[in-house]
Amino acid sequence: MNQQDLESRFQDKIDREVKIEAKDWMPDAYRKTLIRQISQHAHSEVVGMLPEGNWITRAPSLRRKAALLAKVQDEGGHGLYLYAAAETMGVSRDQLLDELHTGKAKYSSIFNYPALSWADMGAIGWLVDGAAIMNQVMLQRTSYGPYSRAMIRICKEESFHQRQGYEILLTLVRGSAEQKAMAQDSLNRWWWPSLMMFGPSDAESTHSAQSMAWKIKRKSNDVLRQAFVDATVPQAQYLGLTIPDPDLKWNEETGHWEFGPIDWDEFWNVVKGNGICNRQRLRDRVNAHEEGAWVRDAALAYAEKKQARKAVVTP
Ligand SMILES: [Fe+2]
Ligand SMILES: [Fe+2]
Repeated sequence: MNQQDLESRFQDKIDREVKIEAKDWMPDAYRKTLIRQISQHAHSEVVGMLPEGNWITRAPSLRRKAALLAKVQDEGGHGLYLYAAAETMGVSRDQLLDELHTGKAKYSSIFNYPALSWADMGAIGWLVDGAAIMNQVMLQRTSYGPYSRAMIRICKEESFHQRQGYEILLTLVRGSAEQKAMAQDSLNRWWWPSLMMFGPSDAESTHSAQSMAWKIKRKSNDVLRQAFVDATVPQAQYLGLTIPDPDLKWNEETGHWEFGPIDWDEFWNVVKGNGICNRQRLRDRVNAHEEGAWVRDAALAYAEKKQARKAVVTP
C-alpha cells in the first residue's frame, strides 16, 4: 500500500471513531505530536505532585493529611499510566524522563507557581484539577486507544481531587475572617494561571487544526476555557469569594460569563522558564529521581529473582 492509501485509511478510521492502536500504521507527525502531548501530560502529573507534596506534613488534621496524601499519590499514578501510554509509541521512559530532567521537555506552567498557604491546597484542587478535568474529559475520547483508556481511569480520580479542594475552601470561608481572607487571597493568585492552563487562544495556537482533524483534541483551547469559567463562577459565588477580574460579567444573550484579557506575557515568561518556581521544581524532581534509584534497582532485582525462580520450577 502506498503512503497516500495508508494515510487515507488512517484518517477514515479516525472519522469512523475507530481507535488507533499501538501496532497500527500512523503518520509520523501523528506519532510525534502524541508523544509530545502524552509525555508533557505525564510530566505535568509528576511535577504537579511537588507543590502539594510540600503541604502533606503541614495539613491541619489527620483527615486532611490522609486526603492530600491520597491525592498526591494519585497524581504519581497518573504519571505512570501516561508514561506507559507514551511508551506504546516507541519511546522509552528513561528517554522521556531525561528530557524532563534536562529541561528540554515542558510540563504545565501552573506548577511553577508557589503554594504559599493551606488555602492553596483548596484552590489547587478546585481550580487546577478543575481546569485539568475540562481538558481530560475530552481526552477520554481521543483517537489514540492507549491514551484514551488511561484518561478514563484518570478522570475518575480527578473529580475526587476537585471536590477535596473545594471542600477545603468551603471550610475556610465558613471559618474566621482570617481564614476567609486566606481563601480569597488564594483565589486571587490561582485564578489567572488556571485560565492560562488551557493554552494560547485559538487564533495563536499552532497545533490545533491538525490535532482536531486527528481527533487528538476535540475542543479548542478557547471553548474549554469558556466552559471552565462558566462552571467555576457559580462555585465561587457559592463560596462567597470574588473572582479577581473587574471585567467579569454575565452575558444573557450568549449564556456565558465574559472575562477580561489574559496576560499572555506572563504565560510565555513562565513557559520559557522564568516563573517563580521553575528552577526549584526541576531541581526537586531531579533529586526525587536520584533518591529513588534504590527503589528502581530493588524492583528490578526482585523481578529478576522471580524470573529465575520461575525458570527453575517450570520445565
Ligand atoms: Fe492527575
Ligand atoms: Fe488531579
